[in-house]
Amino acid sequence: MEQKNFLPLKGTDYVEFYVGNAKQAAHYYQSAFGFQPVAYAGLETGMKDRASYVLRQGKITFVITTALIPESPIAEHHKIHGDGIKTIALWVDDARKAWKETTDRGARSYMEPKPIIDEYGEVILSGIHTYGDTVHVFVDRKNYFGPFMPGFRKWDPEYKPSDVGLQFVDHIVGNVGWGEMNKWVAFYGKVLGFEQLISFDDKDISTDYTALMSKVMVNNNMRIKFPINEPAEGKKKSQIEEYIEFYRGSGAQHVAMATDNIIKTIGELKKRGVEFLHVPDTYYESVIDRVKEIDEDIEILKKLRILIDRDEDGYLLQLFTKPVEDRPTVFFEIIQRKGAKSFGKGNFKALFEAIELEQSNRGTL
Ligand code: FE2
Repeated sequence: MEQKNFLPLKGTDYVEFYVGNAKQAAHYYQSAFGFQPVAYAGLETGMKDRASYVLRQGKITFVITTALIPESPIAEHHKIHGDGIKTIALWVDDARKAWKETTDRGARSYMEPKPIIDEYGEVILSGIHTYGDTVHVFVDRKNYFGPFMPGFRKWDPEYKPSDVGLQFVDHIVGNVGWGEMNKWVAFYGKVLGFEQLISFDDKDISTDYTALMSKVMVNNNMRIKFPINEPAEGKKKSQIEEYIEFYRGSGAQHVAMATDNIIKTIGELKKRGVEFLHVPDTYYESVIDRVKEIDEDIEILKKLRILIDRDEDGYLLQLFTKPVEDRPTVFFEIIQRKGAKSFGKGNFKALFEAIELEQSNRGTL
């Protein structure tokens, strides 16, 4: 494989959500998911049109942003998409070069390189558009020592529920429209220099009713993994179609967050009221035949409804939350890898059957 090094990425810098009420959403990520308060920007810090809360757990940084005025593009985004992911920010050493390399290769500019400065130093930002209204912002923070970035001040409330052991972003999945998967696969290949990791075809990921196609794009150092899904023809509406209908277009479907103790993490999240997809009892009747020997006690995994899958490199444990807003759109995955480098293909059928039950309950199947 040809190694393309024109866009060295150090990791995911942050994920920014545009929401209807950032104050309340930030509280949810604190209390339910155990994110820790980091920084705040709003009227008190001189922001006139928006408020943002920055939360962190392990290496995962969420920015929760809302509009303060109806004329704001944030309000427009929220009107169309509901609560959703606007920005998948990528950590770079040189945001000017990242912008030039990607726009030279055909990316549409979202933000020309711009230095922002305060008493803690300088951050340089630039950005490009990706699928739907989603964007990538390149963040160069090597000369910055403040809590988050200029414009934000430290946010240090007394209320700080403990974390739940989430460590880093494992992957972020994009849902794109009918027949658009290969276009976005080519975009990540050509514009960002990513390689394709694995490909499932629709026969792999289908049930009686629903189907999807998915290709996984990954950067050089494997720190950034972006599976791209498109709907495939099934007897009834797939969850990808449902997402696209309610999100009004392409967008980020789920953020997978890694833990090294999924039993502890899921147990804690459930205690705090995070809702997960229902996994049927029958799943556990056949799972051991499929995945063979694992370190964990299967009874505990069954009790917590954790999914298991195996590939040639090892196995993984995972579970998916229900959508975290009223529209059936964005959700989260909790994942623990024990060698496996794949994404739980063997669980897709079991997962889909579980999702279809939920869709049928909403009358949208
Ligand atoms: Fe995933």
